[in-house]
Amino acid sequence: MGGLCFLLISTNLLFLFFTISSAVDIISPSQSISDNTTLVSSDGSFELGFFSPGSSTNRYLGIWYKNIPGRTVVWVANRCNPINDSSGMLMINSTGNLVLFGQNKSVVWSTSSVKRVENAMVQLLDSGNLVVRDVKDGISGPYL
Ligand SMILES: *[C@@H]1O[C@H](CO)[C@@H](O)[C@H](O)[C@H]1NC(C)=O
Ligand SMILES: *[C@@H]1O[C@H](CO)[C@@H](O)[C@H](O)[C@H]1NC(C)=O
Ligand SMILES: *[C@@H]1O[C@H](CO)[C@@H](O)[C@H](O)[C@H]1NC(C)=O
Ligand SMILES: *[C@@H]1O[C@H](CO)[C@@H](O)[C@H](O)[C@H]1NC(C)=O
Repeated sequence: MGGLCFLLISTNLLFLFFTISSAVDIISPSQSISDNTTLVSSDGSFELGFFSPGSSTNRYLGIWYKNIPGRTVVWVANRCNPINDSSGMLMINSTGNLVLFGQNKSVVWSTSSVKRVENAMVQLLDSGNLVVRDVKDGISGPYL
């Protein structure tokens, strides 16, 4: 009895661990990234979020090295189309495209996936690449 109880507790802990750790580097269909949140790759080397370069107040969505002081940005989504306040929101829409919204839900940037996928997820990899996968293919499925 005591053994069973322990087993139940440890599977619960394991489940909790996986929910917490997967919430950090993945955006699921029901989740989004706002101006105040970031994604961090599982080994902690890359971070995706909103930033303002220098003294600018414009907000850009980008990926940077998390461990190097003085932000080194490696990728910017809306380079030509900055958001001028903190209304930015990144989410994955119902056809499997990544969409960045600005003020009033206007589309600032988006991907154009060839394949339509109802439930897609986005993951920031340890290599700094941002990839989209079909949820039903799981965490090791092919990239879209
Ligand atoms: C982050 O921003 C969102 C949208 O503006 C807001 O709903 C949420 O409460 C904020 N969270 C924190 C921790 O500030
Ligand atoms: C931000 O941009 C929108 C249009 O994209 C514009 O209507 C608004 O006035 C701008 N706000 C500021 C504070 O510049
Ligand atoms: C998802 O985003 C793409 C790119 O902006 C767009 O073409 C498509 O219509 C969107 N799908 C839905 C259901 O809004
Ligand atoms: C955004 O919405 C607000 C309130 O609905 C409106 O006053 C404003 O003009 C809109 N801004 C843009 C850039 O469409």
